Amino acid sequence: MATITTKLTRLLGIRTPLVVPPMAGVSGGALAAQVSSVGAFGFVAAGYDTVETLKSQISLAQSILESHKLNKSLFGVGFLAWQLDQRKKEEAEELVTIALQENVKAVWFAFGNDLQRWIKFVREYDDRHGKAEKTLAFVQVSTLEEARVATEEWKVDVLVVQGIESGGHGSRHSPPLLTFLPSVLSLPFLSPDCADAIPVLAAGGLATGAHIASMLTLGASGAVLGTRFLLSPESLYNDVQKKALSEANETSTVRTVAFDTVRGTLGWPEGIDGRALSNDTVKDFDQGVPVKELQDKFKEAVKNGDHSRILTWAGTGVGLMKEIKSAADIVQELHADCGSRLKAAASYV
Ligand SMILES: Cc1cc2nc3c(=O)[nH]c(=O)nc-3n(C[C@H](O)[C@H](O)[C@H](O)COP(=O)(O)O)c2cc1C
Repeated sequence: MATITTKLTRLLGIRTPLVVPPMAGVSGGALAAQVSSVGAFGFVAAGYDTVETLKSQISLAQSILESHKLNKSLFGVGFLAWQLDQRKKEEAEELVTIALQENVKAVWFAFGNDLQRWIKFVREYDDRHGKAEKTLAFVQVSTLEEARVATEEWKVDVLVVQGIESGGHGSRHSPPLLTFLPSVLSLPFLSPDCADAIPVLAAGGLATGAHIASMLTLGASGAVLGTRFLLSPESLYNDVQKKALSEANETSTVRTVAFDTVRGTLGWPEGIDGRALSNDTVKDFDQGVPVKELQDKFKEAVKNGDHSRILTWAGTGVGLMKEIKSAADIVQELHADCGSRLKAAASYV
């Protein structure tokens, strides 16, 4: 299948306009590198990781890319900005510096009250070290104003527009992608007709190549699919979670703070919750069952691999995903499907 060319593929030097996002606890070096090895672009999630874990996941990605005889920088590292901000300044900076020292092609920041600080940190590092190729800065946004600020004031390189359908964390105030993406693209400096506009990517609830094609026809330069890649051997989800995902349908997900409350991962910026497969933890939480009781049951369920209470993040597209297959095969299927949909659409005119 021929390359599909957009602003994103030109910027990254890839052949399919698809990005697999950093997914905390789920996307390590294997997933990111396998995705990048077949023409898309993958991120390693730094999430809640220690310096040692991040180093080993970066090194895993590099060795996989080298084994494919590819540029070992062809992946990114994504950070949860609120997690960085909770660490000691030196520790947080050390974590980001590891990615920069290793020359990864891109970094991704989301979910923080001061993302600009981190964009500045990356730019200054690149300047200090006279990097020939600057590190590309991706930022994920959930409102029109955030899109404007990230583009006009922070001068990010790639903007990810996250709709309410998204799996994992996001803003409970995000509009549906089908209206949010066109609103962002109607900003004159992000319009598909503006030659200088940075690539805008669509995220949330996307599951198929036809979905990616539809986002391109709306004017996006690419799509971000997270949940689809949870159903791959390379994702760090366990077999119980993967089975639950493959059995889920279009009504299985819910936005909630139940899991963050029960796991003790509160501290997200205002308005952020997460979309996951609904189960008894969510139902009991909504009915006011005491948190301590929920925590005890949750821990027991994790020990026993009992999906009626454990956590599996998932976007609304999960019902369209039945097969667990390699990340490379998923990319190739999405690419072929997207290409044939684009050709079919062109034949209408
Ligand atoms: C398991 C999981 C973990 C995620 N972790 C992160 C993260 O660490 N940082 C981030 O910016 N987004 C994270 N996200 C959200 C993704 O960036 C993206 O917006 C989302 O996956 C798109 O929706 P989809 O899952 O329906 O494809 C996560 C999503 C999932 C499913």
